[in-house]
Amino acid sequence: MWATVAIRDLTLADLPRLREIDRCEHQHVRYRVEDGQLLSSPFDVQVPGWDPVGNGDHSVAGMIEFAQPIVAGGAHFVGAFAEDELAGIVIVDPVFGPDTVWLALLHVDRSHRRRGVASVLWRVAADRARAIGKGAIYVSATPGDSAVGFYLSRGCRLASGAEVSDDLYDLEPEDIHLICELPPNPRGDDDVGVHLRMVRGPISENAHLLHAGASEPTSTHG
Ligand SMILES: CC(C)(COP(=O)(O)OP(=O)(O)OC[C@H]1O[C@@H](n2cnc3c(N)ncnc32)[C@H](O)[C@@H]1OP(=O)(O)O)[C@@H](O)C(=O)NCCC(=O)NCCS
Repeated sequence: MWATVAIRDLTLADLPRLREIDRCEHQHVRYRVEDGQLLSSPFDVQVPGWDPVGNGDHSVAGMIEFAQPIVAGGAHFVGAFAEDELAGIVIVDPVFGPDTVWLALLHVDRSHRRRGVASVLWRVAADRARAIGKGAIYVSATPGDSAVGFYLSRGCRLASGAEVSDDLYDLEPEDIHLICELPPNPRGDDDVGVHLRMVRGPISENAHLLHAGASEPTSTHG
Protein backbone atom coordinates (compact mmCIF):
# COMPACT_ATOMS: atom_id res chain seq x y z
CA MET A 1 0.00 0.00 0.00
CA TRP A 2 1.41 3.40 -0.93
CA ALA A 3 0.58 6.83 0.38
CA THR A 4 2.20 10.15 1.13
CA VAL A 5 3.08 12.08 4.23
CA ALA A 6 2.68 15.79 4.77
CA ILE A 7 5.79 17.78 5.56
CA ARG A 8 5.24 20.77 7.82
CA ASP A 9 7.52 23.32 9.37
CA LEU A 10 7.31 23.33 13.14
CA THR A 11 8.22 26.02 15.65
CA LEU A 12 9.72 26.29 19.12
CA ALA A 13 6.21 25.94 20.54
CA ASP A 14 5.98 22.50 18.95
CA LEU A 15 9.03 21.07 20.73
CA PRO A 16 6.88 19.34 23.38
CA ARG A 17 5.47 17.26 20.53
CA LEU A 18 8.70 15.28 20.67
CA ARG A 19 6.87 13.22 23.30
CA GLU A 20 4.66 11.89 20.51
CA ILE A 21 7.61 10.06 18.96
CA ASP A 22 8.11 6.55 20.29
CA ARG A 23 11.87 6.24 20.20
CA CYS A 24 12.03 2.55 21.31
CA GLU A 25 14.06 0.19 19.23
CA HIS A 26 15.93 -3.06 19.50
CA GLN A 27 19.54 -2.57 18.49
CA HIS A 28 21.28 -5.63 17.09
CA VAL A 29 24.56 -4.06 16.00
CA ARG A 30 26.94 -1.59 17.59
CA TYR A 31 29.31 0.43 15.40
CA ARG A 32 32.65 1.95 16.28
CA VAL A 33 35.50 3.60 14.42
CA GLU A 34 39.01 2.18 14.70
CA ASP A 35 41.93 3.47 12.63
CA GLY A 36 39.52 5.25 10.37
CA GLN A 37 37.48 2.11 9.68
CA LEU A 38 33.85 1.55 10.55
CA LEU A 39 33.60 -1.71 12.47
CA SER A 40 30.57 -3.47 13.86
CA SER A 41 29.88 -5.99 16.58
CA PRO A 42 26.76 -7.90 17.53
CA PHE A 43 24.71 -6.09 20.11
CA ASP A 44 21.47 -6.91 21.85
CA VAL A 45 19.94 -3.92 23.56
CA GLN A 46 16.40 -2.71 23.85
CA VAL A 47 16.55 1.08 23.74
CA PRO A 48 13.64 2.46 25.77
CA GLY A 49 11.52 5.42 24.87
CA TRP A 50 12.33 8.85 26.23
CA ASP A 51 11.45 9.17 29.88
CA PRO A 52 8.18 11.15 29.83
CA VAL A 53 8.55 12.57 33.34
CA GLY A 54 12.23 12.89 34.27
CA ASN A 55 14.72 15.44 32.99
CA GLY A 56 17.80 13.33 32.25
CA ASP A 57 19.57 13.05 28.88
CA HIS A 58 17.11 10.42 27.64
CA SER A 59 13.97 12.16 28.74
CA VAL A 60 11.48 14.21 26.76
CA ALA A 61 12.50 17.23 28.85
CA GLY A 62 16.17 16.54 28.13
CA MET A 63 15.49 16.32 24.39
CA ILE A 64 13.56 19.59 24.47
CA GLU A 65 16.38 21.23 26.41
CA PHE A 66 18.86 19.98 23.79
CA ALA A 67 16.76 21.11 20.84
CA GLN A 68 15.51 24.42 22.21
CA PRO A 69 18.61 26.58 21.61
CA ILE A 70 19.20 24.99 18.23
CA VAL A 71 15.70 25.77 17.00
CA ALA A 72 15.75 29.18 18.68
CA GLY A 73 19.01 29.84 16.83
CA GLY A 74 17.32 29.42 13.49
CA ALA A 75 17.44 25.69 12.75
CA HIS A 76 14.77 24.14 10.56
CA PHE A 77 12.41 22.03 12.66
CA VAL A 78 10.27 19.91 10.38
CA GLY A 79 7.69 17.21 11.00
CA ALA A 80 6.43 14.40 8.78
CA PHE A 81 2.76 13.72 9.38
CA ALA A 82 0.80 10.64 8.49
CA GLU A 83 -2.71 11.98 8.66
CA ASP A 84 -2.60 13.83 11.98
CA GLU A 85 0.05 11.60 13.52
CA LEU A 86 3.55 12.92 13.93
CA ALA A 87 5.54 10.16 12.24
CA GLY A 88 8.97 11.74 12.32
CA ILE A 89 10.93 14.91 12.95
CA VAL A 90 14.15 16.43 11.76
CA ILE A 91 16.12 19.44 12.97
CA VAL A 92 18.64 20.94 10.58
CA ASP A 93 21.05 23.59 11.81
CA PRO A 94 22.06 25.71 8.82
CA VAL A 95 24.91 27.58 10.51
CA PHE A 96 27.13 24.65 11.39
CA GLY A 97 30.03 25.05 8.97
CA PRO A 98 30.92 27.17 5.95
CA ASP A 99 29.65 24.52 3.52
CA THR A 100 27.89 22.18 5.93
CA VAL A 101 24.60 21.96 7.78
CA TRP A 102 24.18 19.81 10.87
CA LEU A 103 21.46 17.22 11.14
CA ALA A 104 20.91 17.83 14.84
CA LEU A 105 18.02 15.43 15.34
CA LEU A 106 16.23 12.79 13.29
CA HIS A 107 13.67 10.47 14.77
CA VAL A 108 10.92 8.37 13.30
CA ASP A 109 8.22 6.94 15.48
CA ARG A 110 8.58 3.21 15.94
CA SER A 111 5.27 2.41 14.26
CA HIS A 112 6.24 4.36 11.14
CA ARG A 113 9.71 2.97 10.51
CA ARG A 114 10.93 1.32 7.32
CA ARG A 115 8.38 3.13 5.20
CA GLY A 116 10.62 5.88 3.93
CA VAL A 117 9.69 8.58 6.46
CA ALA A 118 13.32 9.33 7.39
CA SER A 119 14.21 9.31 3.70
CA VAL A 120 11.65 12.06 3.10
CA LEU A 121 12.99 14.07 6.03
CA TRP A 122 16.53 13.58 4.74
CA ARG A 123 15.45 15.01 1.40
CA VAL A 124 13.98 17.98 3.22
CA ALA A 125 17.31 18.49 5.00
CA ALA A 126 19.22 18.19 1.74
CA ASP A 127 16.88 20.62 -0.02
CA ARG A 128 17.16 23.12 2.83
CA ALA A 129 20.94 22.85 2.72
CA ARG A 130 21.09 23.34 -1.02
CA ALA A 131 18.67 26.26 -0.81
CA ILE A 132 21.24 28.22 1.22
CA GLY A 133 24.16 27.13 -0.90
CA LYS A 134 25.52 24.44 1.44
CA GLY A 135 26.90 21.28 -0.09
CA ALA A 136 27.09 18.79 2.77
CA ILE A 137 25.27 17.42 5.80
CA TYR A 138 27.11 16.52 9.03
CA VAL A 139 25.69 13.85 11.32
CA SER A 140 26.76 12.65 14.74
CA ALA A 141 24.94 9.33 14.59
CA THR A 142 23.87 7.04 17.38
CA PRO A 143 26.12 3.99 16.87
CA GLY A 144 23.27 1.52 16.35
CA ASP A 145 22.10 -0.40 13.31
CA SER A 146 19.13 1.78 12.35
CA ALA A 147 20.88 5.15 12.52
CA VAL A 148 24.15 4.10 10.90
CA GLY A 149 22.34 1.86 8.40
CA PHE A 150 20.09 4.74 7.46
CA TYR A 151 22.85 7.31 7.03
CA LEU A 152 25.03 4.95 5.01
CA SER A 153 22.03 4.27 2.80
CA ARG A 154 21.83 8.05 2.17
CA GLY A 155 25.43 8.14 0.94
CA CYS A 156 27.14 9.32 4.12
CA ARG A 157 30.81 8.55 4.68
CA LEU A 158 32.93 8.63 7.81
CA ALA A 159 34.16 12.07 8.79
CA SER A 160 37.89 12.00 9.30
CA GLY A 161 40.59 14.07 10.96
CA ALA A 162 39.76 17.74 11.18
CA GLU A 163 36.35 17.11 9.64
CA VAL A 164 35.17 15.66 12.96
CA SER A 165 33.46 18.33 15.02
CA ASP A 166 35.26 18.66 18.36
CA ASP A 167 32.13 20.00 20.01
CA LEU A 168 29.91 17.16 18.85
CA TYR A 169 32.57 14.57 19.56
CA ASP A 170 32.88 15.84 23.13
CA LEU A 171 29.10 15.70 23.45
CA GLU A 172 28.75 12.11 22.15
CA PRO A 173 32.17 10.42 21.96
CA GLU A 174 30.66 7.06 21.00
CA ASP A 175 28.69 8.47 18.09
CA ILE A 176 29.66 7.78 14.51
CA HIS A 177 30.53 11.07 12.83
CA LEU A 178 29.44 11.16 9.22
CA ILE A 179 29.35 13.55 6.29
CA CYS A 180 27.23 13.41 3.20
CA GLU A 181 28.35 15.48 0.25
CA LEU A 182 25.15 16.42 -1.49
CA PRO A 183 24.84 15.80 -5.17
CA PRO A 184 23.08 18.51 -7.15
CA ASN A 185 19.33 18.11 -6.77
CA PRO A 186 18.57 15.41 -9.32
CA ARG A 187 14.94 16.51 -9.51
CA GLY A 188 15.77 20.15 -10.15
CA ASP A 189 13.13 21.23 -7.63
CA ASP A 190 12.46 21.02 -3.91
CA ASP A 191 9.53 18.64 -4.08
CA VAL A 192 9.69 16.20 -1.20
CA GLY A 193 6.60 14.33 -2.31
CA VAL A 194 7.60 10.72 -2.44
CA HIS A 195 5.49 7.69 -2.01
CA LEU A 196 5.76 5.80 1.22
CA ARG A 197 4.90 2.27 2.07
CA MET A 198 2.14 2.60 4.64
CA VAL A 199 0.87 -0.63 6.09
CA ARG A 200 -2.12 1.09 7.68
CA GLY A 201 -3.59 2.14 4.40
CA PRO A 202 -3.57 5.30 2.35
CA ILE A 203 -3.51 8.76 3.81
CA SER A 204 -6.73 10.65 3.25
CA GLU A 205 -6.97 12.43 -0.05
CA ASN A 206 -7.15 15.69 1.86
CA ALA A 207 -3.70 15.22 3.25
CA HIS A 208 -1.70 17.94 1.63
CA LEU A 209 1.89 17.68 0.70
CA LEU A 210 3.93 20.76 1.35
CA HIS A 211 7.09 21.56 -0.48
CA ALA A 212 10.20 21.90 1.57
CA GLY A 213 10.89 25.56 2.10
CA ALA A 214 7.31 26.61 1.48
CA SER A 215 6.08 29.24 3.89
CA GLU A 216 2.86 27.48 4.81
CA PRO A 217 1.47 28.28 8.24
CA THR A 218 2.38 25.71 10.82
CA SER A 219 -0.52 23.54 11.78
CA THR A 220 0.59 20.98 14.22
CA HIS A 221 -1.96 20.62 16.96
CA GLY A 222 -4.95 18.38 16.75
C1 LIG B 1 17.15 5.74 11.89
C2 LIG B 1 15.68 6.05 11.59
C3 LIG B 1 15.49 7.56 11.65
C4 LIG B 1 15.32 5.53 10.20
O1 LIG B 1 13.97 5.90 9.92
P1 LIG B 1 13.05 5.12 8.85
O2 LIG B 1 11.93 6.01 8.49
O3 LIG B 1 12.74 3.78 9.34
O4 LIG B 1 14.06 5.00 7.60
P2 LIG B 1 13.66 4.71 6.07
O5 LIG B 1 12.42 3.88 6.03
O6 LIG B 1 13.64 6.00 5.33
O7 LIG B 1 14.89 3.82 5.62
C5 LIG B 1 15.68 4.07 4.45
C6 LIG B 1 16.83 3.09 4.44
O8 LIG B 1 17.66 3.25 5.61
C7 LIG B 1 18.22 1.98 5.98
N1 LIG B 1 17.71 1.59 7.28
C8 LIG B 1 16.62 2.05 7.95
N2 LIG B 1 16.46 1.42 9.13
C9 LIG B 1 17.45 0.51 9.20
C10 LIG B 1 17.82 -0.49 10.17
N3 LIG B 1 17.09 -0.68 11.28
N4 LIG B 1 18.91 -1.25 9.93
C11 LIG B 1 19.64 -1.07 8.80
N5 LIG B 1 19.33 -0.16 7.83
C12 LIG B 1 18.26 0.61 8.04
C13 LIG B 1 17.73 0.99 4.92
O9 LIG B 1 18.67 0.97 3.85
C14 LIG B 1 16.41 1.63 4.48
O10 LIG B 1 15.99 1.21 3.19
P3 LIG B 1 15.07 -0.12 3.07
O11 LIG B 1 13.93 0.01 4.06
O12 LIG B 1 14.61 -0.07 1.65
O13 LIG B 1 15.97 -1.29 3.40
C15 LIG B 1 14.74 5.33 12.62
O14 LIG B 1 15.04 3.95 12.64
C16 LIG B 1 14.84 5.87 14.03
O15 LIG B 1 14.20 6.88 14.35
N6 LIG B 1 15.65 5.21 14.89
C17 LIG B 1 15.75 5.58 16.30
C18 LIG B 1 16.33 6.96 16.49
C19 LIG B 1 17.65 7.16 15.83
O16 LIG B 1 18.54 6.35 15.89
N7 LIG B 1 17.75 8.33 15.17
C20 LIG B 1 18.98 8.75 14.58
C21 LIG B 1 19.78 9.42 15.65
S1 LIG B 1 21.34 9.94 15.01
